[in-house]
Amino acid sequence: MDAATTTTPAVLILLGPPGAGKGTQARMLEDKFGLVQLSTGDLLRDAVAAGTEAGKAAKAVMEAGDLVSDGIVIAILRDRIAEPDCAKGVILDGFPRTTVQAEALDGLLAATDQKVSAAISLEVEDAEMVTRISGRYTCAGCGEGYHDVYKTPAVEGVCDKCGNTEFKRRADDNAETVASRLKAYHAQTAPLIDYYQNHGVLKRVDAMGKINDIAGDLEGIVGEVVS
Ligand code: AP5
Repeated sequence: MDAATTTTPAVLILLGPPGAGKGTQARMLEDKFGLVQLSTGDLLRDAVAAGTEAGKAAKAVMEAGDLVSDGIVIAILRDRIAEPDCAKGVILDGFPRTTVQAEALDGLLAATDQKVSAAISLEVEDAEMVTRISGRYTCAGCGEGYHDVYKTPAVEGVCDKCGNTEFKRRADDNAETVASRLKAYHAQTAPLIDYYQNHGVLKRVDAMGKINDIAGDLEGIVGEVVS
């Protein structure tokens, strides 16, 4: 599918617990379909690094593995989704995470006669998430994601995508914080599976398999939505 042939901008949501593979799959879909990945985790980490008011408020909350307030996250998402590049369609990675955020998204989209095209739930067992998160690292240059075991660069120490040789690990990828993030997911985000089921846009994907197999399943779903 060539993005130029897409008639209605798609609004896709990747739902799933920490470490489910949302970021990994969103980047692959972005490359394949010409959509824009919007990760509220990345936007918040940028705000923390830039020392903005939102970033200062979010820093300790993120380090504890709790959810940042709806007001801050909705404002960040609202500003980013209004940028011109998002007119070609977006993949929301890590947003919404609460019912308040889901309703705010519906309202934002309704203002421009859009709605959620599909909410894809990546389903993974809790123990697997811990394994995935504890081995995760990313390229410091382009943000491409890797894993100590599951996804290593073709040439050790060199990013496949941009050739950078520096990598980083996230401050919140430690056992204690992961437990809090999982708890927050089950209490506040998992109810969105029913929310999108009730809106008739939920798709479930078994995300326990290999990265490329899951990508194939997602491409089938997204291909139907953007065609
Ligand atoms: P965020 O950055 O969104 O983190 P998260 O939801 O915890 O998700 P992750 O990025 O940890 O996992 P992922 O599903 O993207 O997995 P990945 O593809 O990297 O949020 C961080 C914090 O910001 C939150 O805790 C909260 O404080 C705040 N926040 C963000 N959004 C918010 C919101 N809307 N409201 C309130 N607060 C918000 O994969 C993980 C690893 O596994 C990688 O190493 C990858 O290579 C590997 N992997 C991926 N798929 C597979 C596979 N199939 N098999 C084997 N390995 C795999």
